[in-house]
Amino acid sequence: MTFTELETPRLRLRKFRESDFAAVHSWASDQENLRYMLFDPHTADDTRGFIRFAIAAAEAAPCVNAQYIIEARDSGAVAGGAGLSLSDDMDGGGITQPIFELGWILLRGAQGLGFATEAACELTRFAFDEQHAATVTATCDAENVRSYRVMERLGMRLFPEIKRKRRGSVLLGYAERDELFYAVTREQYYLSH
Ligand SMILES: CC(C)(COP(=O)(O)OP(=O)(O)OC[C@H]1O[C@@H](n2cnc3c(N)ncnc32)[C@H](O)[C@@H]1OP(=O)(O)O)[C@@H](O)C(=O)NCCC(=O)NCCS
Repeated sequence: MTFTELETPRLRLRKFRESDFAAVHSWASDQENLRYMLFDPHTADDTRGFIRFAIAAAEAAPCVNAQYIIEARDSGAVAGGAGLSLSDDMDGGGITQPIFELGWILLRGAQGLGFATEAACELTRFAFDEQHAATVTATCDAENVRSYRVMERLGMRLFPEIKRKRRGSVLLGYAERDELFYAVTREQYYLSH
């Protein structure tokens, strides 16, 4: 795909910039916000490295990992980040239609406003309408209720038969965790859109 900036009624989904450091570091260094995430709290250098990665990934041709800043259109304030990436499963044999994976994180002050759902709905639309996605997936820790509620609001379905494990965070003592796998197929998506 080509990185494409997107807009919703309240949000702008745009490329990362070096000047986003303070906001990105705020969410990426907050242990509680990372309770169910797969990465450890970032040092300032980690955050700078991630921003450089996100900027480079957006410029890549093709772009296989589109990392978005979620920005409030009215204030211009950064609310969080979202990712739309081509699934690793594409490396396997035989899959000819793209499977995309979605992810999201909001600054604590931007949670509870519907921003994650609004951003993820637009990324799902973009994946199906403009990138010919066959399926859009998302995963989360089995106890990350706020995250799987986003998946449900997107119209994704839980696949209970897909049982996977993931590493826990520093707050969870790195214990092995159950992971939930959600997905919406192209057919299911267009039945309701
Ligand atoms: C996961 C995460 C993004 C979900 O954030 P969220 O704010 O709960 O999700 P949304 O932005 O979709 O907001 C939905 C909430 O906003 C409320 N809301 C308030 N105003 C709203 C509006 N105008 N429109 C829609 N919803 C609104 C909804 O009622 C809902 O609250 P409820 O679930 O208590 O009913 C957030 O908890 C987070 O960043 N967590 C830390 C990182 C993380 O775990 N990421 C996921 C890893 S898999």
